[in-house]
Amino acid sequence: MRVATSLPLAVIAWTLVSTLQPRPSQAQAVAQTPPMGWNSWNYFAEKVDDKDVREAADQIVATGMKDAGYVYVNIDDTWEGQRDANGMLHTNTKFPDMKALADYVHSKGLKIGIYSSPGPKTCAGYEGSLGHEEQDAKLYASWGIDYLKYDLCSFISEVMEKQAPNDRAAQMRLMQGAYEKMHKALQSTGRPIVYSFCQYGFDAVWEWAPSVGGNLWRTTGDIAPDVYHIYTILSQQAGLASYAGPGHWNDPDMLEVGNGELTLAENRSHFSMWAMLAAPLLAGNDLLHMKPEIKAILANREVIAIDQDKLGKQGGRVYADGEVEVWTRHLTGGALAVAVLNVGGDRYSTHPFHLSLDRLGLHSPQHARDLWTSKDMELTEGMPLELTRHDVFLVRIATPR
Ligand code: GLA
Repeated sequence: MRVATSLPLAVIAWTLVSTLQPRPSQAQAVAQTPPMGWNSWNYFAEKVDDKDVREAADQIVATGMKDAGYVYVNIDDTWEGQRDANGMLHTNTKFPDMKALADYVHSKGLKIGIYSSPGPKTCAGYEGSLGHEEQDAKLYASWGIDYLKYDLCSFISEVMEKQAPNDRAAQMRLMQGAYEKMHKALQSTGRPIVYSFCQYGFDAVWEWAPSVGGNLWRTTGDIAPDVYHIYTILSQQAGLASYAGPGHWNDPDMLEVGNGELTLAENRSHFSMWAMLAAPLLAGNDLLHMKPEIKAILANREVIAIDQDKLGKQGGRVYADGEVEVWTRHLTGGALAVAVLNVGGDRYSTHPFHLSLDRLGLHSPQHARDLWTSKDMELTEGMPLELTRHDVFLVRIATPR
């Protein structure tokens, strides 16, 4: 008290005002809900160029995906060129002017993401950021980059295994240090940049990623557009729910909706289950040639609302009977999402499936909203559900009882 009264009024007033202001970290809070957008890798891979990225941005707007919540237009690997004598990284010929591209994406009301590696080389063998972290972070900020995916790649063979051979603990410290180094470099640019770790779930990354600046972290190896990969990744998310929350998310990898030979039921299931997981929703398909039924899946606002629920609580599997799994996710205001997934390939094995509300701790009946038919309906104990192979039944119960 004595100290305060002896301070000039201006200082006291300034102190008061500054404590009421959000601190920089609060003001810059990113990824309060799982990031939504598009990434070039799953469809374009190494072929991606400036034109593809502009077209993706155009399509996000034209298809209504922007209005549905998709924001980030992310360039994955293969944009990098060479470093000059000052160590400054240049783009390759596929991306003649990154600043102009970023300006274009921003002019659409969208944000732009980029990709690098803590190693000397990226996974596709392009220039990584090792030894140039501050320089690269400044470069990204000068272009107006809003999101960085940082992919471990050659850091394993060129740093971890060389500097700490056979010493797993020391290798993991090196890896964590590398992620933290880029976090600090990004932070010192003063630009809010979503920081995405891609190191395939090594060393229980979910336990330490937020403490070294991660907003999301891949929990597994690479996805591919087939049910085997999608289902394997889904089943590997068990036990990780408590690590997800506003600002820090488990990342079961980017979406394959609309890619490969996935059937409509499989696309629907993939999208539904990623929403149940509070996963980042980064579309990975060719938006310019997207079929209407794929657009309808990616832009289903009621399913997106499950993913983006402000509470940020990741869902989990409650029970399985044979080839059918029942998952729930707790939502804002006491609401509940329930997903019933037929992982079986045979139409007749576990079907029809009889949903047990009792096993979910719910009374019968329940008023629910079917998020794929967009119809209100009633759930009753033991009700039969006909699910064709790999299909899903997804409902939201606003006031479970
Ligand atoms: C790794 C990542 C992929 C993609 C490629 C790019 O495999 O896991 O998501 O970024 O590298 O080379």
